[in-house]
Amino acid sequence: MTGRPVISATGLFTPDQSISNEELVASFNAYVERHNSEHAEAIAAGEVEPLQPSSVEFIEKASGIKSRHVLSKEPILDPEVMKPRWKERTNDELSHMAEIGVAAAEEALERAGRNAKDVDAVLCAASNMERPYPAMAIEIQQALGIDGFGFDMNVACSSATFGIQTAADYIRAGNACSVLVVSPEITSGHLNWRDRDSHFIFGDVATAVLVEDAAIAPDAHWEVLGTKLKTVFSNNIRNNFGFLNRASPEGQEGSDKLFVQEGRKVFKEVVPMVADMIIEEADRLGIDPQTLRRLWLHQANAGMNRLIAQRVLGHEADADESPTVLDTYGNTSSAGSIIAFHLHSDDLAEGDTGLICSFGAGYSAGMVFVRKVG
Ligand code: COA
Repeated sequence: MTGRPVISATGLFTPDQSISNEELVASFNAYVERHNSEHAEAIAAGEVEPLQPSSVEFIEKASGIKSRHVLSKEPILDPEVMKPRWKERTNDELSHMAEIGVAAAEEALERAGRNAKDVDAVLCAASNMERPYPAMAIEIQQALGIDGFGFDMNVACSSATFGIQTAADYIRAGNACSVLVVSPEITSGHLNWRDRDSHFIFGDVATAVLVEDAAIAPDAHWEVLGTKLKTVFSNNIRNNFGFLNRASPEGQEGSDKLFVQEGRKVFKEVVPMVADMIIEEADRLGIDPQTLRRLWLHQANAGMNRLIAQRVLGHEADADESPTVLDTYGNTSSAGSIIAFHLHSDDLAEGDTGLICSFGAGYSAGMVFVRKVG
């Protein structure tokens, strides 16, 4: 017998620390001043380009971001360091990603009234993994006391929605009844905090989505009406960090070993791709896109979301139709649309339909159409 996938509950872990645009720009500009004064002679001789300062106004206007949560604030803001720092954990300690993933998963389990021993699988779906193996998912599985299986998957900003479809497919095929999709996004570790074009983009967070067969789900849940995934290769968002970098003479410190992007191109190319995909998929599912009660969109740029929502709904969306968490969380990669769903879904009425939608590097895009039950 095949199952009917639903979302039983979600969970969210938010780091205590956050960095405002003002704090971020003050630190960045101190670094710029130091760099330019240290290289004053070479700059005067035209041998070195001076660095340009960042600006609070630009960041908020270009992206909609006002602050972001991080796990390691102080070193990020230290102009001498400008990256997160944490003590390396021993093999006997819970790793960083597992720790915040477990916190989000525990909340999802509690909200669903589900005992971890009744979960069959854990997918750790995130844009970077702390190590190649053993899988983060298996460590999270063990920490939660789940008897089943787990594996990691990475589709950058679309990891969570790809994880939800994978979980839904296990349920549709009858291979699992209860699957946790955990997205610990420690994005501060792959952001180049010295890059003016992108230093303001990311924040740290973890989310969890419990995908289950309707037969065992709590009375109040979200029916998964349909899922759709798409990938199209692009170099416009890229991170070259990897184990083969050991062989490269410059080691792993090169800026292309961190997040790099052509933000303008991403904006232009991804908006139409995603809007068309939503409209096509809604049509295939027999849903008039203009009747979607709420869009929980990927949180990378407020302008992108405005344009996508407008094309899908046929009018300018308000905050109720397309909620934003970008302002206080920044871009949290695959977790963004899940945070929006987690924080802005309780008020919907039974029968309301909505869309969880992610997009980003790959390019990748993933959509999960849901209807509120109970
Ligand atoms: N402070 C002040 N000015 C800055 C700046 C900063 N931190 N960074 C760039 N600028 C300047 C640029 O130098 C440029 O100046 P110029 O016009 O004199 O050349 C100007 O601002 C515009 O830069 P640009 O990079 O074209 O900005 P933008 O309007 O495209 O906004 C992004 C940049 C990244 C916010 C935007 O492109 C974006 O969000 N794109 C989508 C990204 C995305 O979704 N990525 C997925 C990641 S998972």
